[in-house]
Amino acid sequence: MDKIVIHGGQRLRGEIRILGAKNAALPIQCAALLTASPTTLRHVPRLSDVKTMSELLAGLGCAVEGDRTLVIDPAGVAAGPLEAPYELVKTMRASVTVMGPLLAAYGRCRVSLPGGCAIGARPIDQHLRGLEALGAKIKLAHGYVDLKAKRLKGAVFTFDVVTVGGTQNVMMAAALAKGTTRLENVAREPEVQELAVVLNKMGAKIHGAGTSAMEIEGVDTLHGIDHAILPDRIEAGTFMVAAAISQGDVLLEHAPVDHLHAVIAKLEEAGARCLVEPRGLRVIGPEALKPIDIVTRPHPGFPTDMQAQIMVLAAMADGASVIRETIFENRFMHVPELVRLGANIVVSGNTAVVRGPATLSGTIVMATDLRASASLVLAGLVAEGTTEVRRVYHIDRGYETIEDRLRPLGARMTRYHGAGG
Ligand code: EPZ
Repeated sequence: MDKIVIHGGQRLRGEIRILGAKNAALPIQCAALLTASPTTLRHVPRLSDVKTMSELLAGLGCAVEGDRTLVIDPAGVAAGPLEAPYELVKTMRASVTVMGPLLAAYGRCRVSLPGGCAIGARPIDQHLRGLEALGAKIKLAHGYVDLKAKRLKGAVFTFDVVTVGGTQNVMMAAALAKGTTRLENVAREPEVQELAVVLNKMGAKIHGAGTSAMEIEGVDTLHGIDHAILPDRIEAGTFMVAAAISQGDVLLEHAPVDHLHAVIAKLEEAGARCLVEPRGLRVIGPEALKPIDIVTRPHPGFPTDMQAQIMVLAAMADGASVIRETIFENRFMHVPELVRLGANIVVSGNTAVVRGPATLSGTIVMATDLRASASLVLAGLVAEGTTEVRRVYHIDRGYETIEDRLRPLGARMTRYHGAGG
């Protein structure tokens, strides 16, 4: 296992290019299963999760080639196992997003239940209930879910909770269903909207993506496309925090400003300047940060995937900040590690009270999940001395070689392979 060693205290300056979004690429890779011809995806981030999804698609019978540009040919799926095995699903829950496409395009599939996750129980009941509403016959046994349906039928379905993955799974299934489907209380995330753009390019008829209801007129067939993955708002948000907490001045090239309003508002409240420029978003950190209160919400609210990162900013701010996590029940795993670095954070239930300004000092810390590991790297950038972040395989799931991306901005970061147990 690798570790990353950070010598803190540098002001970050310069330009960084925002890469393709993990949470857009993963469901779009699954959408390729809906078509009869190859799909080419560009600006694909080189992440372990994307590799896992490509492995899953290859196991299903797809021919998958490339990395930054990925060509997915589903020709071999009909003769394949139509099964997402436990070994892959347990490493990446997003694997369950093959369920809707396989069921809709091939009439049946078998998918391992994902099991627990570091940040919460994360059930898939809404995915299953949505597919059942479209006529799927579902059987749960031996840790797997079997789904069958000769041809899915359009229906009206209301999600009990706003779920990104559930919305994506059911909208992909409905794209090939007979008749029209109306989905209520759907997720409005940019990655859901991007999936609707992709499906409509493939020949689907989806209306209302980005609002809380969607109408999907089923079609008989979809075709392969050539599509460039949109820039990653969470990667951009993470680097915006890096600039703000280091009194830095960073231009985030291709930052998807329209997807970042909630993050920009909070950084400006904390005293940072966020300037929209022709090539992207420029973030200038203040000499002193002000406290902020955060409540994570589905989009367009403040993203839960930025909660850990913004907590580092709150730890550096002059005063008390209150951070409430409403999406996942166990997403404060980074707190004890930030406290080890010298932050003053008290958690009670789903609320963290963060008092600053802290003087962080470097030590050994353990990454526990993707965004928690990003917060530890951010804290290491501003801590005195040396911080060693272990188990960085978590960060490789969502950030492409983060040390190589931040070093040109002045960060002193080095990865040591196989040294971070
Ligand atoms: C997506 O996960 C993202 N992952 C997550 O990002 C992100 O945190 C999450 O959406 C929320 O924005 C990908 O896109 C691959 P949900 P997803 O279904 O789809 C409950 C990252 O850091 N729920 O919207 O799994 C669930 O337990 C990752 O990049 C049910 O109760 O999230 C949670 O409390 C982490 N039943 C809430 O809904 C269901 O059937 C939101 O989960 C489904 C979900």
